[in-house]
Amino acid sequence: MSPLIRHLILISFLLITHPHPTTSDQSFISVLITQNGLDFIKNLLITKTVPKITPSPLSQIDRAITVPVIGNVHVVLSDISIYRFNVGLSQVMPRANGVTISGSEVTCDLSMKWHYSCGSSPFPISVSDSGTASIEVDGMEMVVTLGLDIREGSLKLSTIECNCHIHDISVDLDGGASWLYQGILDAFREEIVSTVEKAITKILKIEISKLESLLQSLPKQIPVDDLASLNVTLVNNPFLSDTSLGFEINGLFIENKTYTRSYGNSLQPPVHCLDPSKMIGMAIDEAVFKSAFALYYNAMFMHWTVDKLPEQSLLNTAGWRFIVPELYRKYPNDNMNLNLSLSEPPAVQISLQKIDAVIYADLIINVLEADNTIPVVCISLVITGTSSVQITGNNLAAHLKMDDFTMSLKWSKIGTLHMFLIQPVVWTIVETVFLPYVNARIGIGFPLPIISGFMLRNAEITTSDSRITVCSDVTYEELFDGIRVYDS
Ligand SMILES: *[C@@H]1O[C@H](CO)[C@@H](O)[C@H](O)[C@H]1NC(C)=O
Ligand SMILES: *[C@@H]1O[C@H](CO)[C@@H](O)[C@H](O)[C@H]1NC(C)=O
Ligand SMILES: *[C@@H]1O[C@H](CO)[C@@H](O)[C@H](O)[C@H]1NC(C)=O
Repeated sequence: MSPLIRHLILISFLLITHPHPTTSDQSFISVLITQNGLDFIKNLLITKTVPKITPSPLSQIDRAITVPVIGNVHVVLSDISIYRFNVGLSQVMPRANGVTISGSEVTCDLSMKWHYSCGSSPFPISVSDSGTASIEVDGMEMVVTLGLDIREGSLKLSTIECNCHIHDISVDLDGGASWLYQGILDAFREEIVSTVEKAITKILKIEISKLESLLQSLPKQIPVDDLASLNVTLVNNPFLSDTSLGFEINGLFIENKTYTRSYGNSLQPPVHCLDPSKMIGMAIDEAVFKSAFALYYNAMFMHWTVDKLPEQSLLNTAGWRFIVPELYRKYPNDNMNLNLSLSEPPAVQISLQKIDAVIYADLIINVLEADNTIPVVCISLVITGTSSVQITGNNLAAHLKMDDFTMSLKWSKIGTLHMFLIQPVVWTIVETVFLPYVNARIGIGFPLPIISGFMLRNAEITTSDSRITVCSDVTYEELFDGIRVYDS
């Protein structure tokens, strides 16, 4: 039953940012599951769940029937069990109040044992017999309508409708007389039908409650690394239209410790995919990136000591002899290192087809003299660039390309410097050391809120005013972890 649950869950994760006038929790990631996505989930659910439908034997039926000529016969049907179950057609329909999953042309086979005895007049001798029978259920229909609600950050299901209706059954007795066959059909037909209907409805309800507890157990944070997690708490109400299902996720980065910071953005319109056949759409607000940068910045994670350069001579004052003569004069032939740190969180601006980034950094030049590190110069840098994003696995990864940079002297212990002489050197450092470092980190990216086991496939990314939209198909792969989590 695990998969059913998973499906629902996935559904729940895919949300749309949709303005909800009544509630106002802020949401910075929206996920939308389209009809194709819902179909995928529904099919997955059915193919994974149906083979597991092996209920315990149904309750036995016993009754006295009157058979012409023979008289009163006591018949017992026992060990009734379902052993093959097949869903012919199925459909999933989002509705205003929830999601309806229906199956039609459902068939199943049952096996059972029969036993009868009769002993009263007109036969003075008591007669009894027993054997087996198979029953084929044709044209069964099942309908499950689930209400969806967000409570305390999780998706809550309520069963609005759950039933099963059988159109017809046929019985095949193995042994036994023909009067028995007709007698069973006439007398037990309805009872067999209602017993099977009840049993299937019960199985469906059990599956729904497993799904429900799986949903409740889904994590509200997805770890990104040691320092940060993504807050995937569901907020507001799900968005339901007759072709899609959407969810809103808080979506901000949170520090490993308790860390909160709020942004004042207003709600965005729903996710919009250029290719409507994609299974899911996810919109990620600029504020998500801001929360990530603010978090890493505040955690003092953004400074680096550079003691290796492609041009190692630049890490000795001798290498600067002609560029900054005063440096060499004061500290001849001393080794140096560079301390590069961000002076404020990077700024990102997402606009139509473009992501601009501005990085503010201080470059401190240190001279290493004996055991001392002596800061001698600090240069402020403003690096502007454009970023491209792509999907790597289930991560949203980025690559930054520098467009321009400006520099200014912040302070100096060796007098004024000729900035135009230093500029090419600093440019080289930024290009060969700083940018590759930044790209190595953002190239890994951060995980999108996708349930484990599901993988994005053929994702398309568009950027628009202040948000990045990822529209994608998904595939499903059973994970060891997944099995452990979902099989309750
Ligand atoms: C939180 O950070 C600490 C120290 O950096 C680390 O040991 C721990 O595993 C982190 N926790 C999570 C959930 O990432
Ligand atoms: C995660 O988001 C939820 C919903 O917006 C919020 O209530 C909760 O405080 C957030 N968690 C953290 C640790 O910031
Ligand atoms: C680098 O410079 C920053 C301030 O700009 C300072 O906080 C940090 O301690 C320095 N790191 C090293 C290793 O010198």
